[in-house]
Amino acid sequence: QEPITIYDRIGGYPTISRIVEAFYPRVQRDPLLAPIFPDDIRPVMEKQRLFLTQFFGGPPLYTRKYGPPRMRARHLPFPITPQRAEAWLRCMAKALDEVGIEGKVREEMWGRLYITAGHMVNQPGEDQ
Ligand code: HEM
Repeated sequence: QEPITIYDRIGGYPTISRIVEAFYPRVQRDPLLAPIFPDDIRPVMEKQRLFLTQFFGGPPLYTRKYGPPRMRARHLPFPITPQRAEAWLRCMAKALDEVGIEGKVREEMWGRLYITAGHMVNQPGEDQ
């Protein structure tokens, strides 16, 4: 049993914020991801700060503002192929590197992100 949340172990909201700040510039430079994100990425960044806070065991900030996460449903308007899920995960891995998230807590975070990214896939890929 682990009484301390991932959120607390990484340093809480300031660390979530740093991850988000490291992640979205990479998304915007990624040739597969950039076309499906809006030019003004700031509202997406704010939602992601709220979401990742609760996703990693912090206060339910996203749900308080936007209701049940229903993340797969909220992603259905966007064509997410397996290749886009891989691209998203590559950007996230680099963001976690940049923020210096390492060791056991990183493995735990990665497991949750990896599974969730897989659940967002809603389109077949080009080559399968
Ligand atoms: C929103 C793409 C995975 C969390 C979005 C948006 C896109 C997107 C295009 C909407 C931007 C807009 O508002 O116009 C993707 C792709 C993924 C992926 C390609 C690849 C698998 C994930 C994962 C998470 C996540 C794994 C969480 C761990 C969010 C959140 C929002 C969002 C919180 C804002 C939802 C809202 O509108 O309230 N994503 N996403 N996404 N994504 Fe993802």
